[in-house]
Amino acid sequence: MQIIQPRQTAQRMTAVAPDHAHPRSTEQAVWQSLAQVNDPEILRPITELGMVQAVDVSSEGRAHVEILLTIVGCPAARRIETEVRAAAEATDGVTEVSLDVGVMTPEQRREFIEIVRGGKPVRAPQFGPDSLTRVLAVTSGKGGVGKSSITANLAAALAERGLSVGLVDADVFGFSIPGLMGLSRDGKVEQPTRLDEMIVPPVAHGVKVISIGMFLGDADPRSTAVSWRGPMLHRTIEQFLRDVWFGDLDVLLLDLPPGTGDIAISVGQLLPQAEVLVVTTPQEAAADVAVRSALVAHQTGQRVIGVIENMAGLAQPDGSVLELFGSGGGEAVAERLSNALDEGKTQVPLLGSVPLSAVFREAGDAGTPAVLTLNDDPAAAELRAIADALVTRPVSLAHTKLPLQTDSSGSR
Ligand SMILES: Nc1ncnc2c1ncn2[C@@H]1O[C@H](COP(=O)(O)OP(=O)(O)OP(=O)(O)O)[C@@H](O)[C@H]1O
Ligand SMILES: [Mg+2]
Repeated sequence: MQIIQPRQTAQRMTAVAPDHAHPRSTEQAVWQSLAQVNDPEILRPITELGMVQAVDVSSEGRAHVEILLTIVGCPAARRIETEVRAAAEATDGVTEVSLDVGVMTPEQRREFIEIVRGGKPVRAPQFGPDSLTRVLAVTSGKGGVGKSSITANLAAALAERGLSVGLVDADVFGFSIPGLMGLSRDGKVEQPTRLDEMIVPPVAHGVKVISIGMFLGDADPRSTAVSWRGPMLHRTIEQFLRDVWFGDLDVLLLDLPPGTGDIAISVGQLLPQAEVLVVTTPQEAAADVAVRSALVAHQTGQRVIGVIENMAGLAQPDGSVLELFGSGGGEAVAERLSNALDEGKTQVPLLGSVPLSAVFREAGDAGTPAVLTLNDDPAAAELRAIADALVTRPVSLAHTKLPLQTDSSGSR
């Protein structure tokens, strides 16, 4: 079995912090504590990113810490301040903490961006043929089968396992990922941070998330119709993959819009290494269109790696199972695809069958993927099992690249 492990950050900030490993003074001990504080969007220690300007500790243990935020009104400011204060206060020898919060000069911000990008140019494709990121595109054919719910849950489950995960909501018509990931409140979708030309996606439940819903300005996404044609859709996805800074990802998940059309072709062109997960319901009517969407993905060069059946039988209090959408659709799609692809040479497994669950739906509506909180819910449990299966894939499927293997030396 191929075991996927989280990648390690190889980058090190050159200057700034003294020797953290062996603090010789309280000041160094404070630096060491601050190295535990991550920037909530970049997900790297603030000490590596040049965000700690100075640390002074008086002989009485009064610590004065100066931090620099990237931009005025940085959305993560309060969180960084709270965590910096708590980290400094928890340091041995510190009796009191005062904190100065400043904003980077344009030059400091350029250095910050340089560190974050690790020398990679701004506005360059991040997931080209050399990328080590595994790309999982979730498709369905038919709408409303639970594709977005499944994508959000898989993303959260993989991030919880320590992987570095990005999620692109490519459903420009009916984006729902911000809501499912808790990035939407009262019709306002959390915005990415713009640092010069770099767009930094918000992080939710450990997942870097980007959605067209974040680029509608002040319009209320609940009542804003986005109606675009193929070339514009293509450009939007291309822009997401080029201008949004995801950093080194282990996995990039894409929530595709329902249907078999333009976006699938764009994904095939922009991310030829994408592996496709097909979501269907137990219903025969969903099966036909699910098969068609998988065949389109296959024709555009993507690899169909499995089927997930959703909205399967609902367990009743008396122990019986209510099969609202029938049964067997997932198995049927897996079988038909296995027969159709490469003249029967590619096995497309049924990766799991996720039952209907009211609490699963409620968790999604509340913006917390069910896999993170619902220990006893069979739908959440099935998705956790599917996430586990995705990170330990049989060697026979790993014939292209082994993109998720961590290099133990830390160099990539
Ligand atoms: N297993 C499940 N049990 C109960 N409700 C579910 C389940 N899966 C999805 N749902 C609910 O069904 C609805 C549709 O799900 P979702 O939005 O994830 O589907 P979709 O395929 O992404 O839809 P669209 O085609 O509109 O993008 C949502 O209200 C969701 O909460
Ligand atoms: Mg959806």
